[in-house]
Amino acid sequence: MGKLKVVVLISGRGSNLKAIINKCSKKNVLAKVIGIISNNSNASGLKLTGDFKKIIIDNKLSKKRFETELQNNLEKLKPDLICLAGFMKILSPFITKKWKNKIINVHPSLLPSFKGLNTHERALKAGVKKSGCTIHFVDESLDGGPIIAQVETSINKKMSSKELSEKILKMEHKIYPEVVSLFAKKRICVKEDKVIIKDEKKLNFFIKNI
Ligand code: GAR
Repeated sequence: MGKLKVVVLISGRGSNLKAIINKCSKKNVLAKVIGIISNNSNASGLKLTGDFKKIIIDNKLSKKRFETELQNNLEKLKPDLICLAGFMKILSPFITKKWKNKIINVHPSLLPSFKGLNTHERALKAGVKKSGCTIHFVDESLDGGPIIAQVETSINKKMSSKELSEKILKMEHKIYPEVVSLFAKKRICVKEDKVIIKDEKKLNFFIKNI
């Protein structure tokens, strides 16, 4: 069986990209990263090396031109899965409809709470007792689309947003590559806008042990 072809879209640090690349290097994982696309030529994630294409699309282009360029590149790469990993741009239906149920994202909160930026600061300010991260399919709304998996953690009153973000980022690095691997095993599908996971118990066990 051929490997699932993954393209990762980034805007910055790329630590989730790195976690996905590492996971894909394992023998039993049926996925490979074939391309990285960034809207930021200075994204440190672009420094990662491997057998994949690196593409930069000028962030100054109009949304329409940016997405046309993105679509042209995606058509060439023909990914089976597109992972947004700290990609700080909202995609319009032009992209999300063409790649429906093939784009996934990681967000550092328990969605639908705290969509958008400054997530941890807002979670702490709101005084929530729990936060975490979410992997979800992507629609045209900000951090929206059917939820695949969530990992939660309790918030300690004295935690700074930096501490909370570091704690949650470590969880992201485990759950995001795992979801990519499940996708490659065809264990994830969407029916009527709800995600169905085969052997969900196994995933829940994995999450419990993060
Ligand atoms: C991650 O914490 C990710 O959850 C967040 O950006 C960070 C990217 O880090 N994404 C969002 O906030 C999406 N709305 P990374 O570049 O080191 O993977």
